[in-house]
Amino acid sequence: MDKHNSEESKILRTRDGYPIADNQNSLTAGPRGPVAMHDFHLSEKLAHFNRERIPERVVHAKGAGAFGTFTVTNDITKYTKAKLFSEVGKQTPVLARFSTVGGEKGSADAERDPRGFSVKFYTEEGNWDMVGNNTPVFFIRDPLKFPDFIHTQKRCPANNLKDPYMRWDYWSQCPEALHQVTILYSDRGIPQSHRHMNGYGSHTFSFVNDENQRIWVKFHFKTLQGIKNLTEEEATEVKAKNPDSATEDLWNAIEEGNYPKWRFSIQVMTEEQAQNHPDNPFDLTKVWKHSDYPLIEVGILELNRNPENYFAQIEQAAFSPSAVVPGIGFSPDKTLIARVMTYADAHRYRLGTNYQQLPVNAPRCPFSDYQRDGAMNYGNNGGSLPNYEPNSNPNAPKPAPNYAEPPLSLGDVAVDRYDHREGNDDYSQAGDLYRLMSEDAKERLTENIANSLGEVPEDIQKRQLCQFFRADVDYGRRVAQKIGIEIDFSSLPKEAQAVTT
Ligand code: HEM
Repeated sequence: MDKHNSEESKILRTRDGYPIADNQNSLTAGPRGPVAMHDFHLSEKLAHFNRERIPERVVHAKGAGAFGTFTVTNDITKYTKAKLFSEVGKQTPVLARFSTVGGEKGSADAERDPRGFSVKFYTEEGNWDMVGNNTPVFFIRDPLKFPDFIHTQKRCPANNLKDPYMRWDYWSQCPEALHQVTILYSDRGIPQSHRHMNGYGSHTFSFVNDENQRIWVKFHFKTLQGIKNLTEEEATEVKAKNPDSATEDLWNAIEEGNYPKWRFSIQVMTEEQAQNHPDNPFDLTKVWKHSDYPLIEVGILELNRNPENYFAQIEQAAFSPSAVVPGIGFSPDKTLIARVMTYADAHRYRLGTNYQQLPVNAPRCPFSDYQRDGAMNYGNNGGSLPNYEPNSNPNAPKPAPNYAEPPLSLGDVAVDRYDHREGNDDYSQAGDLYRLMSEDAKERLTENIANSLGEVPEDIQKRQLCQFFRADVDYGRRVAQKIGIEIDFSSLPKEAQAVTT
């Protein structure tokens, strides 16, 4: 029997499962009260209500979203190994969220403001979040300026009013904002609805193909509904009649089967072209000329399913530029790098440390890690597998070096994961310390170690003994003797043999 449709499941209960006989009348001493303290249904109901609000997004608080599919229409496998693009016709489920930037969660949709354009692709290799805007550029090129810039778009600290003084005071001192300011006050400054605007990744990202070759890339989503905007006067009227105009438009279109679509295209630039580019190709305030870097079609994004529950699926959705999949990566754009760091931090504050476990955020591919516990943790929390790595458990998750990205060369240095052991001597100072000890102290040290090390399997004991030998032969010998291990010096690794002879 489907437990969600059974008669039992339709009984109103407390969150502990107790059936509720009366949801209209509190438990009281006589008909005129007072209420009895042990009416736990009343206290649970009021207490939960008190905790219904969570922090709204610090920016992009007002938004609407829907689910859909992304379908590949053109082969771009020569640029990226990302499996969501692996063949023409391939479909990937998505969640999209559109937003204004500066307003609060209850603010009007038809404001003159950039629009957020976020798409979460639930791919077979994890989630790829494309967290862009409806403009190909942005107001700042250095992330250090973001909080100040956003303060100017919000309310005046003195009187809590929107204040043109703040924004023009700031912009007039930040010429790098002029490109985006020009778009914001142009005919495209107030999109008529979320369906009638384009989306852009804005930053330069990277693609890596099967041969581990990198290419720089920009993302473009062109609306197939056509671009439509409001004039200042029209927007004033729309806001007065329906502050939720764009939210309602998206919902109704999908309910009516009029599914909105966008054509996803890319611009690509080779590493060599980037070196010879007249501007910094990683500058978020600039576009790449389409005449030099023409659009290459990739596929169609279609939204065809409204959320069942706004809070669970849209408010709790967490989009982050750090969510990428193999074959899609970052670029030296400093604002992008800062965003990669900061969004997950915002999610932890807004939704909690285990926000990736929420159904709308969880990847659709199998996943395992060494993160444990934390508030509101559910699932099996790693079960009985070790909570540290490296470990000797054959069933525990292990890194897969074949997913390493190619090093990012920046002239004299390259950004890569360097082995911190290379060129480092981890043994001499430990050995020096040992040799400084008195005979008694050496005995106590090796006794303490043996008492603990004696408890673990022999392969781990031998691995650890190698380290003691490398620090000091006597150190190794004493521990070995105390845990009853006969050392065949010829079986030790070459470096250890060298110090034992
Ligand atoms: C949301 C920070 C630049 C697009 C957010 C949030 C933060 C943030 C903290 C709220 C996240 C949440 O609570 O879920 C920053 C910082 C930036 C930056 C520090 C620069 C240093 C940008 C740029 C774009 C962008 C350049 C677009 C190209 C968005 C979008 C959202 C968002 C679309 C809403 C995501 C959603 O739908 O949930 N940003 N942002 N941001 N940001 Fe940014």
